[in-house]
Amino acid sequence: MGERPVVVAVTGASGIQYAQRLLSVLALGGLEAHVVFSQAAFEVWRAELDIPCRPEKPDLAAFCGAPARSLKLYRNDMIGAKIASGSFRHRGMAIVPCTMATLGRVANGSGEGLIERAAEVTLKERRKLIVVPRETPLSLVALRNMTALTEAGGVIVDANPGFYGRPQTVQDMIDFVVARVLDLLEIEHSLGRRWGEVQPRN
Ligand SMILES: Cc1cc2nc3c(=O)[nH]c(=O)nc-3n(C[C@H](O)[C@H](O)[C@H](O)COP(=O)(O)O)c2cc1C
Repeated sequence: MGERPVVVAVTGASGIQYAQRLLSVLALGGLEAHVVFSQAAFEVWRAELDIPCRPEKPDLAAFCGAPARSLKLYRNDMIGAKIASGSFRHRGMAIVPCTMATLGRVANGSGEGLIERAAEVTLKERRKLIVVPRETPLSLVALRNMTALTEAGGVIVDANPGFYGRPQTVQDMIDFVVARVLDLLEIEHSLGRRWGEVQPRN
C-alpha cells in the first residue's frame, strides 16, 4: 500500500495562510489530501488573501500556488463523502485553522457538516486529529473544549510560532506552525530549522 492520504479541513478562523502553506507542501510532494472548506473559511479567504475566491468552484491550485493534482476537494455539505466513514483509512486529519465554533462542536460530538463528521470519525477510529485553533484571548469555554478534545485523543497545535529561530518574515512564522503539523502527520519537510540547527546570533 502506498502512503496513506491526509484529510485537511479549513475553517473560518483568521490565519488561512496556514492552510495555504500546508496544502502547498502536500501538493508539491504529490501527497494525496482530501480537503474541505467551511462556508466561513471562504469569508476569511476573501478577507486575508488576494486570490479570487469562488466558493461554488474553489481554485485549489491558485489557493496553494502549486499544481493541485493530488488534492481532492469536497463541499462541507457532502456528508456522504468517503472521509465521513471510518472505513476510509488515512494518516490523520488536520483542521487548519480551526475556529472556536468547529472546535466546540467536535469536542462535544455535535458536529453537522462533513468537516465535523470527518473529525469525529477520526477520533472514534483513534486516528490522529490535529487542530490548529486561532483565537485570543481564550474564554473558559474554549479552554474547556480544548481540554475535552485533548482528552478524546486530539492534538492542539495552537497557531503560536516560536521566536528562537529568529523569524525574518511572516512566512517564517507561518512555516513554524505548519512544520509542527507536518511533524505530527509524519510527513517529511524542510520548513524552518529545528532547535539545535538554529545558530544563535548576537
Ligand atoms: C475575517 C474573519 C476572521 C475570523 N477570525 C476568527 C478567528 O480567528 N477565530 C474564530 O474562532 N473565529 C473567527 N471568525 C468567526 C468564524 O468564522 C465564525 O464563528 C464562523 O461561524 C465559524 O464557522 P466554521 O467553524 O464553520 O468555519 C472570523 C470570521 C471572519 C469573517
